[in-house]
Amino acid sequence: MKRKVTKAVFPVAGMGTRFLPATKSVPKEIMTLVDRPLVQYAIDEAREAGIKEFIFVTSRGKGALEDYFDHSPTLEASLRKSGKTDLLETLKATNMESGAIAYVRQHRAMGLGHAVWCARRLIGNEPFAVMLPDDVIAAEKSCLSQMVEAYENTGGCMVAAMEVPKDRVSSYGVLDPKEDMGSLVSVKGMVEKPPADEAPSNLAVIGRYIVTPDVLRTLNKLKQGAGGEVQLTDAIANEITEGRDVHGLRFKGQRFDCGTKAGFLQATVSFGLARDEFRDELTEYLTEVVAAQKVAQ
Ligand code: G1P
Repeated sequence: MKRKVTKAVFPVAGMGTRFLPATKSVPKEIMTLVDRPLVQYAIDEAREAGIKEFIFVTSRGKGALEDYFDHSPTLEASLRKSGKTDLLETLKATNMESGAIAYVRQHRAMGLGHAVWCARRLIGNEPFAVMLPDDVIAAEKSCLSQMVEAYENTGGCMVAAMEVPKDRVSSYGVLDPKEDMGSLVSVKGMVEKPPADEAPSNLAVIGRYIVTPDVLRTLNKLKQGAGGEVQLTDAIANEITEGRDVHGLRFKGQRFDCGTKAGFLQATVSFGLARDEFRDELTEYLTEVVAAQKVAQ
């Protein structure tokens, strides 16, 4: 029997050095896309997919993240007093039921696989999701929901997948497809950040995973891999070696790499344009800017 996926791990221990100096005092995951921190997008996606328990793997300096998901009695009382019910409603999405959210520390930056392993005692013996908040995915049905649906038929491990330009493969985990069934791809190998000329395909892993507890057992034993880090990709690839199923799902939606400044800026524009209250003004502004750029060239 396949178990339901009700727990998700959010590895957020990274120092966010690409966004210095901002990340000197603000965790990257709290940086805002329009008016919501990055991490809120991942939480909303997880909730839509039926996740009930949220496990954050954090590090020193991530206190703002814990405060963000806490109730804020003074702020809430003040909003209630002034009748700002719409804002109170907005705050609701940030509140977590006591016991639904947990934080574990990753004491040393030893890679994504190690970060996930740090959550092992909170996961126990059941399949779980891993979500990297840097990857923000705009979709009609959330990416994780699409994966949970597909997983109900496949079981095993599943990763979100997307074709990337050949010269970008060395930034990703890359799949070696066995059978391509359209949106679903069965996988016969997986390699972390291969050089472009050694990559088995240009089908890249995007930061959403459903993994079995077997992967945690593998992580118990795994040595450092690419870049001297313990790789989640290697632990999932081991499932294939052991004869268990791994699938990639080409999800429907647009992915933004908010781990890079250019991706963050693109996401800001795109999420701004998606909002009724900004669309007209922003479109007009962008049209003007583009026209002025053309004249200047
Ligand atoms: C991580 C994973 C990689 C995956 C990528 C997706 O890499 O290790 O397999 O393709 O996320 O964003 P990172 O970008 O954290 O270096």
